[in-house]
Amino acid sequence: MKRNMRRTLGLALLAGLVFPAYGADARLQAIQADPAAVQAAVEAGRKASFFCANCHGDNGVSRLPEVPNLAGQNPAYLLEQIRKFGSGQRKDEFMQGLIKVLKDEEKIQIALFYAGQQPTPGQQEAAPVAAGRQVYVKLCARCHGDQARGNETIPRLAGQHPVYLNRSITRYRDKTGERLDPQMSSAVAPLKNEDIKAVAAYLNTLP
Ligand code: HEC
Ligand code: HEC
Repeated sequence: MKRNMRRTLGLALLAGLVFPAYGADARLQAIQADPAAVQAAVEAGRKASFFCANCHGDNGVSRLPEVPNLAGQNPAYLLEQIRKFGSGQRKDEFMQGLIKVLKDEEKIQIALFYAGQQPTPGQQEAAPVAAGRQVYVKLCARCHGDQARGNETIPRLAGQHPVYLNRSITRYRDKTGERLDPQMSSAVAPLKNEDIKAVAAYLNTLP
């Protein structure tokens, strides 16, 4: 091979590494493919999330019922929600302002840090849990999974705060504008307020 050609090839490869073609999701996947890179990102994410800890807790288990737990959440979902706050597609005055100060790499590091933390299930009364389980199996499990742990694009619900779940589900159902997602709005359309309370209680108890 000629020297020039080799150099061109080398530069092209380097450009691919430095400027990934598909933005944040590709960058996340590239890090996830390399355990050492994940470890470094998690450590950087722990530091970069020091301010977030005021509400989301040191390890992503939040201190306030209306603030979601982030521990164990799927990193691609977290990144997507950060993107939605940034673009105004998801509305929360405080989160929208805060997200603007994060660098792109920090967003990925923070998502990986929280994803690696341990979620903590809660305890709820037996009756609503049993009723909520029925709702969940019938209407939600096909997307969020049998154990409510979601996947890359679908959030984990297991162990989430019931107050936050209740509020979020109601917002999708009533299309109040803070969160718009056509799939979710039609999935939760048949739920009455008691069903929402029950399913939130059930989900909170799951590990
Ligand atoms: C003052 C409290 C507060 C602080 C500080 C805070 N958040 Fe939040 N965060 C919230 C609340 C409240 C919500 C829920 C908003 C809603 O109801 O949609 C939220 C939602 C989120 C969500 C969506 C989670 C989901 O399950 O959909 C992500 C991701 C998030 N915050 C990341 C962060 C990051 C990263 C930081 C630090 C840079 C941070 N937050 C700092 C209060 C806070
Ligand atoms: C067709 C697939 C689908 C079905 C069925 C579905 N969901 Fe979802 N759900 C999603 C998607 C996709 C999102 C992320 C939407 C977004 O970005 O706001 C989501 C988000 C959520 C959230 C927000 C989680 C968070 O951390 O903020 C809750 C709560 C939720 N779903 C509960 C339910 C419940 C309860 C049911 C059953 C009654 C259900 N979902 C049925 C696809 C589905």
